[in-house]
Amino acid sequence: MKTSHLVLVGMMAAGKTTVARLAGERLGRRVFDSDEMIEQRTGRTVRDIFEEDGEPAFRALETEVLNTALNADEPAVIAAAGGVVLSAENRATLQGSTAWVVWLCADPAILLERVRSGDHRPLLDGDPAGTLQRMFRDREALYREVADEVVMVDSLSVDEVVEAVLS
Ligand code: S3P
Repeated sequence: MKTSHLVLVGMMAAGKTTVARLAGERLGRRVFDSDEMIEQRTGRTVRDIFEEDGEPAFRALETEVLNTALNADEPAVIAAAGGVVLSAENRATLQGSTAWVVWLCADPAILLERVRSGDHRPLLDGDPAGTLQRMFRDREALYREVADEVVMVDSLSVDEVVEAVLS
């Protein structure tokens, strides 16, 4: 963890994966996405891991891949999935690292419009609106705790978010 990685945190569908990919292109850096890393490492989908092994097993994998990404030799861009901040260990790791952590902060109502795409969010299966509201309430302080910078994404285009993150 000697290099200054750029880490994007925030709720599901805040744009972390897309913004990380574009920021990585602009910076000429490798891009890590924690969900993708877990799927590559296990050969299974996020949904399958949640459903077959349970959330704690998924969270343990999440901690492993976060550490792998942060230990990359070259400065990278890391899209850390929404739940990474739930672990005190992960929060301490992020705070203790030299990484620059940006929270992509979005209103849960805006997130609701976006979460319909993708199949890797089993936690939203039942009541996405209520769950997103509750998650935001529960996690807001945790994102704030690890963030060096906050970008309010609600009224920004993807390109504007990338600009804000890079500036
Ligand atoms: C989760 C976020 C998801 C995925 C899983 C749990 C969460 O990733 O890891 O469904 O608890 O916030 P994204 O943040 O990339 O959607």
